[in-house]
Amino acid sequence: MRINDPNLIAALVALGVEHRAGVSLAQETSLGIGGDSDLLRVHRHDSLPEIVRLLRQARVPYRFLGGGTNVLLPDGELPWVVLQLARQDPDVRIEGNTVDVDCAADLGRMVTTCAKHDLGGMEGLIGVPGTVGGALRMNAGAYGTQIGSFVREVKVYRAASGQIEILRGAELNFEYRHTSFAPNDIMLAVRLELPSKPYRQILEGIRICNEKRRASQPLNQKSAGCIFKNPPGGSAGRMIDELGLKGHSVGDARVSDRHANFFVNAGHASAKDMLELIDYVRRQVREHYGVELEEEVIVWKES
Ligand code: EPU
Repeated sequence: MRINDPNLIAALVALGVEHRAGVSLAQETSLGIGGDSDLLRVHRHDSLPEIVRLLRQARVPYRFLGGGTNVLLPDGELPWVVLQLARQDPDVRIEGNTVDVDCAADLGRMVTTCAKHDLGGMEGLIGVPGTVGGALRMNAGAYGTQIGSFVREVKVYRAASGQIEILRGAELNFEYRHTSFAPNDIMLAVRLELPSKPYRQILEGIRICNEKRRASQPLNQKSAGCIFKNPPGGSAGRMIDELGLKGHSVGDARVSDRHANFFVNAGHASAKDMLELIDYVRRQVREHYGVELEEEVIVWKES
């Protein structure tokens, strides 16, 4: 979607928004899939309530994009403008065992910055691509670690109230790849409490996780990580593999040969190809195992 009203653009720019017209969002996602839209990069968190108010008043639909690593965007002209937080500087502040992180910060860089201050616990998250905000929204996890375990409070723009709020303890709920945030809430910053650990020990943990990941995941191909959540007690990857679906393709959307729950863009896959592949695999798993797989990747649909 394009914003054509020069007054609206001027008002957004006055609020510290960088307006990039007609951006190819395929360039902004790890899958390399997605159509075009105006991209509004938000430099000042505090102006978000006013930015959203202006967009609503002008009846401009919007969606919020984090690091673009766990999302499948539609093809063609998108029916929304896209909001994205710009990185703050500094984006990680450490005091004792407490770490304040801006949600636009890169997750891996945050983990290594903390490691240099002898703060560990998050070694398993090292190869998870994306921003801290994205990791929070999905409660990203790997190798026994999930980010939610370390969260003390979150600063969030709540779409329901139109305000920035600080959520603490009992107001936060982190489950397997699920959190209590509303789909259109925007995470702005997070306070983590991390255990002390010697740098060398953390580095060793990081090295082990990196090795495991390299051995089992297609890291050099365009993907959005795992496509489906694991069903309770089961493994989506193993079921898809057992059905012989590795390498199965629709256009350039392909089930990875390395990990069957990773679907890769092997060239110029469209969202339509990827969605067809997702549906096909889901049907096969339903027919053979009686299990209904739920997407782990966030699919942007018109609703
Ligand atoms: N397996 C196969 N064939 C495959 C893939 C896996 O047989 O093609 C088997 C493995 O041998 C293993 C089991 O399935 O016995 C589980 O596989 P793996 O250890 O790779 O873990 P996963 O359950 O497939 C989960 C997360 C990953 C995370 C890894 C490591 C989900 C949906 N996936 O994968 O997270 O990196 O554990 O902790 O929870 C993501 O969320 O995008 C993601 C990649």
